[in-house]
Amino acid sequence: MASVKAAILGFGTVGQGIYNIVHERREHFKQTLGVEIEVAKILVRDASKVREGIDSSLFTESFDDILAIPDLEVVFEGIVGEDPAYGYLDQAIEKGCHVITANKVMFARYGQELQLKAKKKGVQVGYEATTAGGVPVIKTMQNLLRVNEVKQVQGILNGTSNYILTQMRAEELPFDVALKAAQDLGYAEADPHNDVSGEDAFRKLMILCALAFGEQPDWNKVEVVGIDGISSEQIEEAKAQGLRYRHVADAYRDEATGEIIAKVGPQLVGADHPLYAIDDVNNAVTLDTNYIGTLTMVGPGAGMYPTASVMMEDYADMLAKPEKAVSLA
Ligand code: NAP
Ligand code: HSE
Repeated sequence: MASVKAAILGFGTVGQGIYNIVHERREHFKQTLGVEIEVAKILVRDASKVREGIDSSLFTESFDDILAIPDLEVVFEGIVGEDPAYGYLDQAIEKGCHVITANKVMFARYGQELQLKAKKKGVQVGYEATTAGGVPVIKTMQNLLRVNEVKQVQGILNGTSNYILTQMRAEELPFDVALKAAQDLGYAEADPHNDVSGEDAFRKLMILCALAFGEQPDWNKVEVVGIDGISSEQIEEAKAQGLRYRHVADAYRDEATGEIIAKVGPQLVGADHPLYAIDDVNNAVTLDTNYIGTLTMVGPGAGMYPTASVMMEDYADMLAKPEKAVSLA
């Protein structure tokens, strides 16, 4: 039985999910993947924090300790922001490791560089968890792009916003109470302003644009509006008219100019709209393609286990198809 060494960067909602799945599914992975995964080190900001039930010697505050792990095979990244995450993954790829990230803030900006570097080094980059949580939109798009063109990408890409809008409407909770609940459930970003301002959905949309269209639009030309300007009164008024607020991200290539047009913001939708029924933390992604037609995927857009599961699925893909890059780059 082959044993593979893994490192986890970050031990918050996502990092703990990875750790738990590796341990809970140890026998399953032995049988299905033919490997035993060993978590060799975990990088955190504060290694002195008490983390019940876990060997404290696993934790480090120094990325050098990660790079020093002999025969390190894969790095799972669940830390926050562009820096130092990009530098860490760049160094892990340089060392010859596969990398799997949930960090959309970093990946929206540096995804292409990481994928090109990984290709040169013969390793792979998994980024399913960056976009739409447990909804397998990246893998699905990579598969269908082998045959189809994607003309438009549209959907709900922030679970926290959708959860808050749902709680404000269905439970009549104030915005702050609904946001606190989303934080307690592990849905919200470390800085929840990113969720409610539309920034998180924007970064995810940029990742989808890079995959769907081979490029991103000029970030400065994308209108980004969050749900933080929607009042309880507006939600009540909409409800009385049989309408619901949805936070929608949308991108398509303008056929006349070739330009990618992208927009992120709240929309009022009626009962006949496909996003009307998408409640709670769910995300929905609709792809308009030339051969398949319109394809919609719906599922949990945030949370410990949906996110960690798709990261482990990325690794299972890498083990199953070592000769084929998970990314298109
Ligand atoms: P979190 O609960 O805030 O945990 C972040 C973890 O990263 C903490 O363990 C923290 O260390 C560590 N960390 C942060 N900055 C670091 C640095 N510079 N160096 C070393 N360690 C650092 O965050 P999360 O919800 O797990 O999210 C992690 C990443 O996944 C983010 O990029 C987020 O956008 C993305 N993501 C989250 C979800 C979700 O549902 N939560 C879903 C998809 C993607 P300490 O423990 O010492 O503070
Ligand atoms: N904060 C993010 C959300 C996590 O609520 O969608 C998943 O990317």
